Formats: sequence, structure tokens, C-alpha cells
Amino acid sequence: MHLLADPTQMRAWSRAERARGRRIGFVPTMGFLHEGHLRLVDRARERADRVVMSIFVNPLQFGAGEDWATYPRDVERDKQLASERGVDGLFLPDAKAMYPADPLVRVHPGPMADGLEGAARPGHFAGVLTVVAKLFHLVEPDIAVFGRKDFQQAMLVRRMVDDLNFGLEIDIAPTVRELDGLALSSRNAYLHGDERRAALALSRALRAVEQAWRGGEADPGPLARRGLDVLRAPGVAPEYLALVDEQMRPVVRVDARTVVLVAAKVGKTRLIDNVVLGEGVASDTSVRA
Ligand code: PAJ
Repeated sequence: MHLLADPTQMRAWSRAERARGRRIGFVPTMGFLHEGHLRLVDRARERADRVVMSIFVNPLQFGAGEDWATYPRDVERDKQLASERGVDGLFLPDAKAMYPADPLVRVHPGPMADGLEGAARPGHFAGVLTVVAKLFHLVEPDIAVFGRKDFQQAMLVRRMVDDLNFGLEIDIAPTVRELDGLALSSRNAYLHGDERRAALALSRALRAVEQAWRGGEADPGPLARRGLDVLRAPGVAPEYLALVDEQMRPVVRVDARTVVLVAAKVGKTRLIDNVVLGEGVASDTSVRA
């Protein structure tokens, strides 16, 4: 595995590989890798000759009171996991290399970022799309793989690529869950004691909505109320439960393409999860699969 420490090296390596006719697959991450990240590598590997992963805890996408400084980091372990999983190029820039100066020009994410995570975290998606655009320009991938776990992010990246003609394919992979349903997340490392069990309320709420929908309910109002009832568990502070379409617009009538998104705080840890109703929580991949 090649370690690529700065943007110049990254670009040179990618250009050399492309010059040899190799298709490049790209998996951007913030590290503290888990099986969810590594499944994205597997998907990239299936569709490309060379797989690049980036690990960069992007300060631009964290708000003032958020966890940028304390975000879990373990670069040595990440290097080992990435290498064992067959990553060919690991891009590990530091903040100075990515942002020699505060970027004055940024990507404006538009109305799809107004609600949900965008509303809860002002400026978050401008920070995400700006770094993803920079990474795309440095890596020049043919395909980039994102997780459905961060549904709004994945839809925004796809839309940016379409609207701004980036000329690469965005592949979106199913959410990887623990056997008990908890979606894998680097932030699960923050969960202690009873919080780990309380955090199951998110996937349980999604399942409750899914079941009610399969039982014939197609009105988003009662479905959201059903989900919120389950989300309001001891130790859990619900933030939102919403039923939206792929453009993040609230739906009037629920169908198989409708996505249910939840956010809640468990102790001090903010967690998100979602399900595409037609696919169902059970169709997401389990860590053991
Ligand atoms: P990070 O949270 O590290 O996630 C990196 C990628 O892994 C994202 O595409 C995310 O959706 C995916 N992922 C995380 N948990 C997953 C799970 N349980 N199942 C499947 N995929 C999962 O998302 C970011 O980093 C950043 O915002 C980034 C895109 C790198 C820009 O800074």
C-alpha cells in the first residue's frame, strides 16, 4: 500500500496509474475505520483496478461546539486495516496541506441541505461538499463509493457531481449494522455502559415505521408518530424522524422509495440512521455477512 502524505503526491500517483490505463476507485473517510468503511473498499475493488482511500478529519465540516478535536483517531490501526483490505493508495493529508489558507471559495450545497442534518449542523454540508470536491480533484477517480448510512450526504454528493459535471460515478453502498441492528459508526466509540443498548432505539424506530408501512399505512403523519414513539426510549433524546424522497423533500404519500431518517442524542453522542422502506432494515448488511 502506498502512503500518500500530501496533495501533490496524491495527484502524481493517481495520474501515473491513470496513464497506465487503470480505473481508480475512491473511498473518502475520516478514519477510525470499521467494517462499514471497509465494505466500501470491497465495492470499489469490484469496480476498479486501483483503490484509493483518504483519511482526513475535515475541520471545515465541524461546527464550533462539535467534536473535531476529540473525533476518534487511530492512524496506525487504520493503516493496517486499509492495507489488509487491499487499499492500494492511502491518502493521509494534514489540515495545513488541505487548507494552506482558509478557503474563500466553497461549494454551496443548495436546498437539499436545508433540512435534517443541514438544519441541525449549519455549514456542515458546505464543508463536506467542499472537501469532497477537493478530494475528487486530487484523486481523479472513475468511481467513488459512499455509504447510505449518511443518506443526505450521499444524495448531496451525487447531486454535486451531476450538477457540476465532475464526470465520475457515485456508488452508494448499504448500511453495515451490528447483529443487533446498530449501524456502525466511528462515533459508537463514544457510547458507554447503558448508552450502547439505548442506541438501539434508532434502528428499532426505523423498523417500527417499516412494519407499519408494510402493514398498509401510507400516510407519513401516523408513520412518523409511530417511529417517534419507539425513538422516545429512556436515555434517548430524539432530534428528528422524517420521511423524505431522494431530494430530501418531505413525502405526502409513502412508497417503496421513501427514506426514513432519524437523529437522536444518546448521552452526549449524536447518532443518525435511516432506511429505504422498500429495502428494509433487514436488507442492510450485517457485520458478519
Ligand atoms: P466517515 O464518517 O468516516 O464516513 C466515510 C464513509 O463511510 C461515508 O461514505 C459513510 O457514509 C460511510 N459509512 C460510515 N458508516 C457506515 C456504515 N455503517 N455502513 C456503510 N457505510 C458507512 O462521511 C464522512 O466520513 C465524511 O463526511 C467525508 C465524506 C469523508 C468527507 O469528509
